[in-house]
Amino acid sequence: MSNILCVYHSRTGKTRQAMTAIAEELDAELVELTDGLDRQGKLKVVPACFDAVRKSTRPLEPFRTARPITEYDLVIIGTPIWAGRCSPVIREFLKKYGSDLRWSAYVLTRSSHQRYEEVCRQMDQYTAAPHLQWVSLQVGEAGEAFWRAEFIRQLRGIVYAG
Ligand SMILES: Cc1cc2nc3c(=O)[nH]c(=O)nc-3n(C[C@H](O)[C@H](O)[C@H](O)COP(=O)(O)O)c2cc1C
Repeated sequence: MSNILCVYHSRTGKTRQAMTAIAEELDAELVELTDGLDRQGKLKVVPACFDAVRKSTRPLEPFRTARPITEYDLVIIGTPIWAGRCSPVIREFLKKYGSDLRWSAYVLTRSSHQRYEEVCRQMDQYTAAPHLQWVSLQVGEAGEAFWRAEFIRQLRGIVYAG
């Protein structure tokens, strides 16, 4: 197994799908994050948007990684876009562990045609160093597999060249 950790939050499974494929390709450890709040169903979408916009977060449910977070060469963070921001679960992860990350890369999943590069800059506010690489995916849409493969190719170039 590589010394790469993939963490993600997923409400409806799309980010999970993308991150599972990326972790398999990179032989990386894969960990799902949650804050334990039930956000299923249409009625929960508006409150979820409010949480994202207000940047309000809740403590994460306990999760296990094989090593302490500080020991991974690279942590790849997968988040759905919520109201033009990362999800509150990922914001909480970044608040708590962002300064511990050696290197990071971001996987954004979204439903619109916008790519949301600015979300990477928002996420970088919590990390010790700016992200190495990022990708924005419309999971299940044309082009997803291409951009995912391109992300992996570029990351391999960075990680294995260093
Ligand atoms: C609360 C909420 C807010 C969202 N806001 C956006 C948005 O601003 N832009 C966008 O392109 N997609 C938005 N989406 C769609 C999700 O980002 C997209 O479907 C994502 O791939 C879902 O990932 P998941 O299945 O892992 O939860 C939003 C979805 C939810 C539930």
